[in-house]
Amino acid sequence: MIDVSGYPAHVKTLQTGYEAALAAHQYDAVVLCSGTATTRNRFDDQYWPLNPTPAFLHWLPLFEADAYLVVRPGKKPMLVRTVVDDFWETTAPPESDHFWGQVEVVEVAPGRAGDALPGGKVAVITRDPGSSPPGEVNPPELITALDLLRTRKTAYEIECLAEASRRAARGHAPTEKQFLGGSPSELEVHLQYLLASAQDDSWAPYKHIVAIGAHSAVLHYVAYTNERVAGDTSLLVDAGAKCLGYGSDITRTYVRGSGAGAKKFGELIAHVEAVQQEIIRRIEPGMEYEALHDDTHRLLAVGLRDLGIGKGTPEELVDKGVTRALFPHGLGHSLGVCVHDVGMKPRLPRPDNKFLRNTSVIEAGQVFTIEPGIYMIDGLLKPLAEDASAKGLVDWKLVDELRPFGGVRIEDNVVVQAAGTRNLTREAFAGIG
Ligand code: GLY
Ligand code: MN
Ligand code: MN
Repeated sequence: MIDVSGYPAHVKTLQTGYEAALAAHQYDAVVLCSGTATTRNRFDDQYWPLNPTPAFLHWLPLFEADAYLVVRPGKKPMLVRTVVDDFWETTAPPESDHFWGQVEVVEVAPGRAGDALPGGKVAVITRDPGSSPPGEVNPPELITALDLLRTRKTAYEIECLAEASRRAARGHAPTEKQFLGGSPSELEVHLQYLLASAQDDSWAPYKHIVAIGAHSAVLHYVAYTNERVAGDTSLLVDAGAKCLGYGSDITRTYVRGSGAGAKKFGELIAHVEAVQQEIIRRIEPGMEYEALHDDTHRLLAVGLRDLGIGKGTPEELVDKGVTRALFPHGLGHSLGVCVHDVGMKPRLPRPDNKFLRNTSVIEAGQVFTIEPGIYMIDGLLKPLAEDASAKGLVDWKLVDELRPFGGVRIEDNVVVQAAGTRNLTREAFAGIG
């Protein structure tokens, strides 16, 4: 069960943060729009489900179109709801009603929200600027300030994220058994995950990645096939769940079989997991997240050498681009009401870390993923093989043996504490036995 008793304190923290942001950017009020039901494109009239504006979800776990939260200094937040008498659609009720007492609710007829919204110098934050109420729409400096507020979680948010990890762990555990004990297709694993985590595909925080064998070398593989795969192979499941708008983002990789390739791939999984755990042990407030990303390359290089995949020194494997070809993405990203939430990228990463989504200084209260990986991606390995400066640094025969297994990623969700971390993912897996 979710403990929502921290919600009033969460609202108080948000109110204080919003008042400071409004004062700094000289607004009398901000209107946070849930969003308007917009069709996907001019040829497709489907518009559900609504994925509300992150700043709105930060306050309210309400997935309702044309709702507006008004935040003003010294006033209780006001929620303007558009009441629609509709026999085509209905919004799913929120999974908990703990939040209603913290807002003043005003109900209006469709198109009449403007009557209830404040005048003065008003900023409007919306995912649908084309249908915004009056005000200054999405001012960038205010958005940056509000995005930053989402990076330091309240106790209530951490509780939501912990529950989101527990729900995902309930999905992951049976997929491991299903794969190791049989020969399911990607689609079957995906459906099994949804069933075990009790969610519909469209409720998930992101389109889940379920990849068997070489497919796991496609970082965001979602083209599930329904072919059963027997014999030695791997399975990568990158899947989460939501709780009150907050999502988890968890990856596990498994291998099946007893051939030489499967055995080596199993060693690679163990190495990536050991690196991930070591990186999590190193997390401390005050460090740069990018320094952790750099450490990850160095640690992965040691394992690549130990496994015989890399043939130079660990320093050479990093400096000559071998680890970047095998681990091309960033170490992780902020997590919250969006799976890749923004606000933890105050500056660009160094050019050699171009896909890194987190360049923040680590602070207590941040929640982010730690997700190292090693992948056999043809499009990155080919230029490496042709690079004269990296000659002799890779055992290409071993790489060829690993190619059918695709790639490994191990991803956990961690909360930074004053000292050390709380690993929501490991805690969730331990809790389900
Ligand atoms: N699920 C995408 C990612 O791990 O960032
Ligand atoms: Mn992630
Ligand atoms: Mn993921």
